Amino acid sequence: MSVKAVFVGMPGSGKSTVGRNVARQLGTEFRDSDALIEETTGRTIPQIFEDGGESGFRDIEAAVIQEALDGYDGVLSLGGGAVLTESTRAALKGHPVFLIDVAPEELLRRVTKSRTVRPLLVDDPELRLRELREQREHLYREVARHTVSSDETPVAGVVAAVLEVL
Ligand code: S3P
Repeated sequence: MSVKAVFVGMPGSGKSTVGRNVARQLGTEFRDSDALIEETTGRTIPQIFEDGGESGFRDIEAAVIQEALDGYDGVLSLGGGAVLTESTRAALKGHPVFLIDVAPEELLRRVTKSRTVRPLLVDDPELRLRELREQREHLYREVARHTVSSDETPVAGVVAAVLEVL
């Protein structure tokens, strides 16, 4: 028994929306690491960043992901920075990991429109997104077995592309 699909990618790439839909089509459970972190800690993501900074958040994130993967056979979406943690990258080895790839302009559009507060993107989201992508791109590619592009494709098309691979 192991996870059916894991979604990684930049903030705003649509990991949770795609993951939830893939899980529904497969008739299986869906988990999202940010939601699990908030449930487990009883704090919001911005509060966790405020209390322990990014490194405090990453420690909690890595532990929650390890636990979420353990004996799980549903679908899991990860926060955009989860791949920064080495133990998480190691835990993803051998699993069907999908990178959702979205062009920078489209990411910016989605992130600025979204109501989700992302502490790392509060100041100058355009610059921050560029920096985060530069820092993470190779890590996404390292963990991903498949890459699906989601620039202009509606969610249903991305979901269909994922299901075709599974
Ligand atoms: C983060 C992305 C967020 C959340 C946190 C940090 C990041 O998740 O985990 O704000 O480092 O890119 P999403 O990718 O779902 O926005």
